Amino acid sequence: MIYYLIRKILFLIEPEIAHILILKFFSLKYIQNIIYFFLKPLPQKKIKCMGLVFDNVLGTAAGIDKNGEYIDIMSKLGFGFLELGTVTPLPQYGNPKPRLFRLVSEEAIINKMGFNNLGIDNLIKNIKKSKFKGIIGVNIGKNKNTSIENSINDYLICIEKIYCYASYITINISSPNTVNLRNLQYGIIFDQLLKKVKKTQKIMHKKYLKYVPIAIKISPDLSIKELIRISKKLIEHNIDAVIATNTTIDYSVIPDIKKNLKKGGISGLPLQRKSTNIIFILSKILKNRIPIIGVGGINSLYSAQEKIKAGATLIQVYSGLIFHGPSIIRKIIKKI
Ligand SMILES: Cc1cc2nc3c(=O)[nH]c(=O)nc-3n(C[C@H](O)[C@H](O)[C@H](O)COP(=O)(O)O)c2cc1C
Repeated sequence: MIYYLIRKILFLIEPEIAHILILKFFSLKYIQNIIYFFLKPLPQKKIKCMGLVFDNVLGTAAGIDKNGEYIDIMSKLGFGFLELGTVTPLPQYGNPKPRLFRLVSEEAIINKMGFNNLGIDNLIKNIKKSKFKGIIGVNIGKNKNTSIENSINDYLICIEKIYCYASYITINISSPNTVNLRNLQYGIIFDQLLKKVKKTQKIMHKKYLKYVPIAIKISPDLSIKELIRISKKLIEHNIDAVIATNTTIDYSVIPDIKKNLKKGGISGLPLQRKSTNIIFILSKILKNRIPIIGVGGINSLYSAQEKIKAGATLIQVYSGLIFHGPSIIRKIIKKI
């Protein structure tokens, strides 16, 4: 109720500034104290996935806290795990603004951020500073100026640097806002990427005596044939999890979308059915051999349950938080 009032003001502000303002608001000490005073503890609903124990099934999707600046406050809102990033080896500005749009009546967000982030070294500093002891996933990508041919190296640099500090690592090859990034999902380069990532994971495992699972985040715009091929490769290379899905560039999910908005990835309600469908198909192909982390359009307990029913072991949320506020976290966790 209170959030819907705050939302009225927030939605008058430019989306990127509103995003920072709301996170800063929840980071204020006295706001946190008020929240803790009124919040009852959540029931214990631990779940095992990728060999890790998660406090509950619901985590933050990548993009909310790209630089790990809000780890402690996000964890206290009730999330069972946090996925930070996408971070790249070097800091970068991302695409020019405006690059984030809200479609309130459709309950959708369109973004063409382009991996704006302060780089992996800065993220490591922030993880070290945080007090959170739960599961932290780190989502990694390639720098804009790295060619696709050399992109695997960017992922390997990030894995080596973050290995000690992450509970799991997500290889993001599905953002539609970095030119040709999605090409990494296909053919020989996909095979090479998985092979080299697993080789680096093995070396790091030996070095630090700690196994950090690797997840691959895929696009919702893949055909069944492509999902079959990707799944085969994930199994062949012993990948630890698949995250489905990133945002869509299938603009038909929003009928009557304005031409000038057909530029970025769509998230939120229009993505809900598409991503659930991908999870369902993946679960039929994978047959529990690799866990699925479901994300895309979760905005209620019902839509969260749909993702689990379709085959997801864990779920993540981003746009639903913007439209419904942090109360949806507790609504989902209490009853799921
Ligand atoms: C503004 C914005 C930024 C995002 N940034 C990233 C990112 O950096 N890396 C990534 O893997 N996904 C990113 N995503 C995609 C989300 O993690 C998620 O996969 C997608 O939004 C679908 O979930 P939702 O409908 O709950 O938002 C971003 C989404 C939004 C809306």
